[in-house]
Amino acid sequence: MIIIGGGLTGLRAALQISNSGLSGALISKVHPLRSHSVAAQGGMNASLGNVPGDDGASDDWKMHAYDTVKGSDYLADQDAVEKMCNEAAATVYELEHMGTVWSRLENGKIAQRPFGGAGFPRTCYAADRTGHNALHTLYEQVLDRNFPFYEEFFVTSLVKDRGRCIGCTAIEIMTGKIHGFISKAVLMATGGFGRVFNRSTNALINTGDGLALALGAGVPLKDMEFVQFHPTTLYGTNILMSEGARGEGGILVNSQGERFMEKYAPNSVDLAPRDVVARSIEQEIREGRGYDEGYVHLDLTHLGFDRIMERLPGIRQIAMDFAGVDPIKEPIPVQPGQHYSMGGIDVDINGSTILPGLYAAGECACISVHGANRLGGNSLLETVVFGRLVADTIINDINNFQKPDILPIESAVNDVESKIKEVMERKKGANIFDVKDEMTELMFQKFGIFRNGQRMEKGLNEILKMEDKLSELTPNNKDLAVNQTLIQFLELEGMLKIAEVVAKGAIKREESRGSHMRTDHPNRDDENFLKHTLIGLEDKNLNIKYKPVTLGMFEPKERVY
Ligand code: FUM
Repeated sequence: MIIIGGGLTGLRAALQISNSGLSGALISKVHPLRSHSVAAQGGMNASLGNVPGDDGASDDWKMHAYDTVKGSDYLADQDAVEKMCNEAAATVYELEHMGTVWSRLENGKIAQRPFGGAGFPRTCYAADRTGHNALHTLYEQVLDRNFPFYEEFFVTSLVKDRGRCIGCTAIEIMTGKIHGFISKAVLMATGGFGRVFNRSTNALINTGDGLALALGAGVPLKDMEFVQFHPTTLYGTNILMSEGARGEGGILVNSQGERFMEKYAPNSVDLAPRDVVARSIEQEIREGRGYDEGYVHLDLTHLGFDRIMERLPGIRQIAMDFAGVDPIKEPIPVQPGQHYSMGGIDVDINGSTILPGLYAAGECACISVHGANRLGGNSLLETVVFGRLVADTIINDINNFQKPDILPIESAVNDVESKIKEVMERKKGANIFDVKDEMTELMFQKFGIFRNGQRMEKGLNEILKMEDKLSELTPNNKDLAVNQTLIQFLELEGMLKIAEVVAKGAIKREESRGSHMRTDHPNRDDENFLKHTLIGLEDKNLNIKYKPVTLGMFEPKERVY
């Protein structure tokens, strides 16, 4: 089987496949250790109960599930949330046994810090380099099993035959050669689409390629209007300043010296969920209580040298290198930035899509554990839990699948070769990078933290015009080897489609829920919108449907923080 994507999800799946004795290969457009999982800072949630809550109570997985569902503004599917939270402790211990260097308490147990929207200190961490630690651990494990990697291969299409997914085509970036990969099953583990927005914490590689491929193959995308803005990204570059900083006691302060979160979330204050904190910062800035150019301060100075060096060394270094600010001595200038995509490829609880043979897990998928707003620390958890569980689904399913036929793969390779030839032979048109910049700016302005119908309609029209320009674009560089402009052109095609899906989902959802805040529909409307949005391609047009949310232990209530 084929795994597309070499981050935590892809590597955990590869490990499972390899341990099962099945053969497979992992395709990634970058070296796996450059996958965006490496940038995850704050940690992974699990109700280990190593640090008691305020009243001395001990955490358990049901409290974790409750916080997750409440944080999701009740849009998460509760069966999936239960599965994830139930598996969390075993997942953290498994990583520990494989070699992840979790930070420790004085008593030697795995350390846990408070995170936004969580009722207990639940986030396990490796200082502020948790993703880096976990990714290296899994990479070593997969290397040890000699699992084949195709690094720096950009996947160009999914191949279907008789209603099944039977493989993919990919450009070998180093040479420009198009390859075909035949397989009984394909797992998408390609991460998010953060770079459709400017001001993003995401790596430049997070262009949503997997989502665009699935959409193109006839699989709908789910809940794409829910885009997470992280409250604290470094002003200027939007590099993540981990929520762990507030978990360790950091506070947000406006230009009048006020700890403004006391006003917006009197109980949780700086550790309210991300949607609440990001909106509050944006409101402070819009009402003139930010610093001149649009930021507030994240103040860690009271934490002291030792604590910052032990728990937050990475963000200290980043703040010094990219903003010239040492958080030990001065507050960090921060503003909200795009961080995560709650929506993704529509999958069922087992990670199967509606296209037999195609599966998805991790940020590119929407199994819907995050609903309308993800809690910090639940993303790393999702990647590893569902990387393993969806691999198990494939291991179970694969023997029922027939050996695929090579002819459709060969013909798909020919199609991609012809398309690339046509793109490269075009006369010079608009600049690819100008169109990309225009799109990312538009997405932030029109589909950012505060949205409204009129502005979004205008935004959608602009996106459609940009899509029209695609047929005129051509890379300046006409060499096929290491042609990053060609790769960016192919990424841009997918990104514009994703932008259109986000726009259409957001316009149709006439309510405010989680990260989707509409000034023209400011309230949550469970009667009409407690449902998932599904957007798929039919006859080249996007078609919107809805499907019910799976409720369970927790009835929807008003969220109070
Ligand atoms: O703030 C952070 O460290 C991010 C964590 C997350 O997105 O889960």
